[in-house]
Amino acid sequence: MKILGIETSCDETAASVVEDGERLLSNVVASSMDLHARYGGVVPEIAARSHIEAIIPVIEAALSQANCDWGAIDAIAVTYGPGLGGSLLIGVLTARTLAIVHNKPLYAADHMLGHVYANFLTSTSLPNYSMRRSQPVFPMLAIIVSGGHSQLVIFTDHFSYQLLGQTQDDAIGEAFDKVAKILGLPYPGGPSIARLAAQGDPNAFSLPKAKVGTYDFSFSGPKTAVLRLAQAQIGESYDFPSTKLAERLSAAQKANISASFQRVAIETIVDKAKVAFEAFAPASVVIAGGVAASPELRRQLAAAIPLPLEYPDVKLCTDNGAMIATVGCFQALNEQPLADPYSLEIVPNLNFL
Ligand code: KG4
Ligand code: ZN
Repeated sequence: MKILGIETSCDETAASVVEDGERLLSNVVASSMDLHARYGGVVPEIAARSHIEAIIPVIEAALSQANCDWGAIDAIAVTYGPGLGGSLLIGVLTARTLAIVHNKPLYAADHMLGHVYANFLTSTSLPNYSMRRSQPVFPMLAIIVSGGHSQLVIFTDHFSYQLLGQTQDDAIGEAFDKVAKILGLPYPGGPSIARLAAQGDPNAFSLPKAKVGTYDFSFSGPKTAVLRLAQAQIGESYDFPSTKLAERLSAAQKANISASFQRVAIETIVDKAKVAFEAFAPASVVIAGGVAASPELRRQLAAAIPLPLEYPDVKLCTDNGAMIATVGCFQALNEQPLADPYSLEIVPNLNFL
């Protein structure tokens, strides 16, 4: 069974063909990131316009990379939420049209489930992918860490899950992006902070961890703590503008702040994941979302969880069409309901739990 996955929830226009929920046949991603970088974050109108320009060439490239014509595709899966309204619309309207024109079943896929299902991809003949050796088994603890979400979810089976906890304010990726902005580092913040942190001392500064529910998170306090720390480092008070900090901080100060913030932010996730691991005794633990690409997260998690851990390739952690195609495959295999190509609507604030 071959599924075409289409993903346009944020700034990546992505399409991919996945076979049987495990084999990656193609993965094409066009990002409008360069256009957003100068604004320090994604500009929704620019993202939507870029999707319109990119979506047809990206889908054609995904079919051609997979050596497929439309006859070989069994169904289409598309992200219908959560995400930016204007961006989701382009993917959903395109998928609906293609499903009607080519007479294919259509599946509506949840973007966050997609990130989790990237862990089910185990083989490819595409160059430069390091794939997981095996699919995760249930019960499965999912640590979802992206630009918009920080959640701990326990899955007892496909499409059968319980939210244990989530962030009460900012997501971890969002906090990385905001701290990077304070330090004058390029967007997206996670990789920028990771690069600079390698030259800093993770114990240079102690930053507070929020006291919230057992499995909940809060990243807005630590982010503000970074702002205050940076102001104090240059001898200024709390009303010194955050936009002027980067030019006054030394390279060493920036590296130490990056390393300390990265350590504390990742520790916050790993500490709670460890409590969940001990309480629910899952048979597997997966990480999902853009921040799952973080080497520091992988290092800390491997030290905290007594299971052999496997991770998706970094290219499958950030937004991509393959994760959506994989959800579609498992929807088909588990007799989940089809979407109506004449009426499927986007759900920008979809919360799958
Ligand atoms: O899942 P994603 O690609 O988009 C959303 O659905 O939000 O996640 C984007 C987030 C950004 O905040 C970015 O800073 C973070 O993932 N990110 C990383 C890394 N790569 C992307 N964070 C830490 N380390 C990375 N290597
Ligand atoms: Zn995402």
